[in-house]
Amino acid sequence: MTGKAAQSLEKTLKRTDPAQARAIERSLEIAAERHGDLTPRVYALLFERKPEMEALFWRDKDNAIKGEMLSKVFEVILDFVAERRYADHFLSSEVITHEGYDVPREVFAIFFAVIEETVRDVCGEEWTDEMARAWRQTLADIDEFVRQGSA
Ligand code: HEM
Repeated sequence: MTGKAAQSLEKTLKRTDPAQARAIERSLEIAAERHGDLTPRVYALLFERKPEMEALFWRDKDNAIKGEMLSKVFEVILDFVAERRYADHFLSSEVITHEGYDVPREVFAIFFAVIEETVRDVCGEEWTDEMARAWRQTLADIDEFVRQGSA
């Protein structure tokens, strides 16, 4: 993305509403408390939805890359909804880095949706409408950065 495009995107995209940010944070806390490491579940669902992605992790014999990547994704979501110190730029640059791994840009939205679905399932009856709204809005905002990032 050019400097100008980045600036206009930053202006048009409002920061996450603090109540929605809290709902996202809370849902992730509950998921971690209830389930611990979500790595196996998230990737199992991703590969069910996009089977062709599994082969791209051929180097990842012990799931360390998958775990590391997912923890970065949680960090980026938490930064995106709060201070947004680096998340927007990081998202744009990861899209480019991942072209080197043959990951199509469209798969980012699928991956984030898979994360939301996993968190929702793990939260069970503790999942609230506020969390659902917060995730919907946040994923739509993140998608803007992914779609327009460094194009
Ligand atoms: C914001 C979203 C994403 C972030 C922050 C992210 C971050 C990362 C990071 C940090 C690594 C390197 C991990 C390491 O070597 O320890 C990595 C590797 C990788 N990512 Fe992502 N990722 C994202 C989205 C995706 C998506 C949607 C896919 C598609 C399935 C994907 C596929 C891969 C693959 C295949 C590798 C392994 C590359 C290799 O063989 O070294 N990533 N990712």
